[in-house]
Amino acid sequence: MTDAARDYYLSGLSNQHAVEKQAIETIERELGRMSDYPALHSRMQQELQRSQTQLERLETLLSKHGTGASTLKETVTAAVGSVSGVVHIAARDEVIKNVLAAIGFKAYEIGSYKALIATAKLAGAGEDETVLKQSMAEEQEMGDWLGENLPSIIEQHLSKQAA
Ligand SMILES: [Fe+2]
Repeated sequence: MTDAARDYYLSGLSNQHAVEKQAIETIERELGRMSDYPALHSRMQQELQRSQTQLERLETLLSKHGTGASTLKETVTAAVGSVSGVVHIAARDEVIKNVLAAIGFKAYEIGSYKALIATAKLAGAGEDETVLKQSMAEEQEMGDWLGENLPSIIEQHLSKQAA
């Protein structure tokens, strides 16, 4: 590994670790308010499990490259902060706003895993590609699910308003 590529790759893994931690915290905070939307609720429960697995994968890679989880800087980048857009105000359509934010968050994660895959190769850690691609495919699948189910979630929201 060249030093620059290696440093860049390791900081990328560390950033992604912070991103997954933020995903977990966000889902934990929002899950209870999604109980009126059973399909979304169960999908988000699965997403919570997956995010925990993705977090563990990153920890495995980091420790393989000599960076322990305890030394990680858990600073979430400003970029993530801006797409996460968590709705704190109890808006009537809070769940929908959170789904829109989740779609943005998934797009960020797909991009950041793609960047990690490219960097891994340049850093001489091409063997990490398989596990990073697995996480990226999961992000893609969740992003697709949210986009496909958005119309029905809006429909459910409006029928609840009418009831
Ligand atoms: Fe994730």
